[in-house]
Amino acid sequence: MIAIGCDHGGYELKLEVIRHLEEKGVQFIDCGCNGEAVDYPDIAAATCEKVLSGECEKAILICGTGIGISMAANKIKGIRAALCGDWYSAKFTRLHNDANALCMGGRVIGAGLACEIVDIFLDTEFEGGRHARRVEKVMKLEEN
Ligand code: RB5
Repeated sequence: MIAIGCDHGGYELKLEVIRHLEEKGVQFIDCGCNGEAVDYPDIAAATCEKVLSGECEKAILICGTGIGISMAANKIKGIRAALCGDWYSAKFTRLHNDANALCMGGRVIGAGLACEIVDIFLDTEFEGGRHARRVEKVMKLEEN
């Protein structure tokens, strides 16, 4: 189960991503918005909550640039959000960072690339090993 959320700047791309998830048979919870103007930190909080509660495995977050919503998501304890605009970053943020939230910019990338990024992000497992130690250190930074 995937949680997906966007602000008004990411709404059009979210519709494309949702269409893609439906085609692939991936289950998701849409945490808004529905095209109306909203504040991206509120959407980041509502969507990431689904991951923190265990209801969803990962989150997909979309705003205009992908930057605001990723900044907000990374303030939430337990969330490792990665802003991706290419497949290499999407692959390696799963392999090396165990990212649990994918952020994209609806005004930056097109639907074709975004859907490829989503596929790679959802299908790539964390590599663990030496990367687990580094991710643990990242998570420890939340304690300060
Ligand atoms: C909304 O206009 C825009 O500021 C937002 O979608 C995002 O790009 C912020 O980082």
